[in-house]
Amino acid sequence: MKLPAAVIAVSSVLLVMAATSGAVTFDATNSVASTDGGARFDREVGVDYAKQVLSDASSFIWGTFNQPNPEDRKPVDSVALNVVDNISAPAQTSGGAISLNAQYVAGFQGDVKTEVTGVLYHETTHVWQWDGQGQANGGLIEGIADFVRLRAGLAPDHWRKAGQGDKWDQGYDVTARFLDYCDSLKQGFVAELNGKMKDGYSDGFFQDILGKDVQQLWQDYKAQYGG
Ligand SMILES: *[C@@H]1O[C@H](CO)[C@@H](O)[C@H](O)[C@H]1NC(C)=O
Repeated sequence: MKLPAAVIAVSSVLLVMAATSGAVTFDATNSVASTDGGARFDREVGVDYAKQVLSDASSFIWGTFNQPNPEDRKPVDSVALNVVDNISAPAQTSGGAISLNAQYVAGFQGDVKTEVTGVLYHETTHVWQWDGQGQANGGLIEGIADFVRLRAGLAPDHWRKAGQGDKWDQGYDVTARFLDYCDSLKQGFVAELNGKMKDGYSDGFFQDILGKDVQQLWQDYKAQYGG
C-alpha cells in the first residue's frame, strides 16, 4: 500500500516522539497453550490481562523508585512475557524478557490470577531495578523485587511475617519486610538505595542514607518484634 506523504511525515514524527519520550512496549505471549499450565494460564489469567499487568507494574515501579522521567530509568524499551515450559524456576527475567513457567501455573493451589500478578510485579522489578553493575548483593536484589510486590498489596499469605528471618540479606520476603522497615524510617529509602545502585554497590549505602550500619538496622528491626 502506498501511503500519502503527509501520513508518512506524521508517522515519522510520532516515531521520533516515541523514541525521545522513552516509550516502552509491553507484550505477552503463551508459547505452550496446549499444555495443562498453558491452558490454565489462558483460562484464568490471559495474555491481555498479563500485558496490562506489565504496564501497570512498570508505572508502579517507576513511582516506587521515584523515577518520574524516562531518562532516570534503566534504558529498556520493551517488556515481554512468555509462558514457557523449559525453565526450572517459577519465573525468570533477562533484560526485558520475562519467562513464566507453565508447570508452576498448573501446580499452583488457589487463585492463580492473583499469584501470577504478584509474580509479574516481582519479575518486572528485575527489569527496571539497578544491580550495582552486577556487584549488588543477590539477597538485596530479590528483596527489592519482593518489596515492590509487598507495596503493591500483593504479598501472599504464605510469606514470612514482619520480624521473621535470620539475616537482613536472606532475600525475598525476609529482606522485603526489612526494607519496608527501613523505608518507614525514611520515606523513599528504597528509591534512594536503588538510585545509588546504578553505578556500583556497597552495604555502606544503608549507613549513607539512614545514618546507621545495616547490621545495626537489622538488630533494631528484630528488637522491635521481640528479637
Ligand atoms: C524456551 O522456549 C522459548 C519458546 O517457547 C524460547 O523463546 C526460549 O529461548 C527458551 N528458553 C530456554 C531457556 O531454553
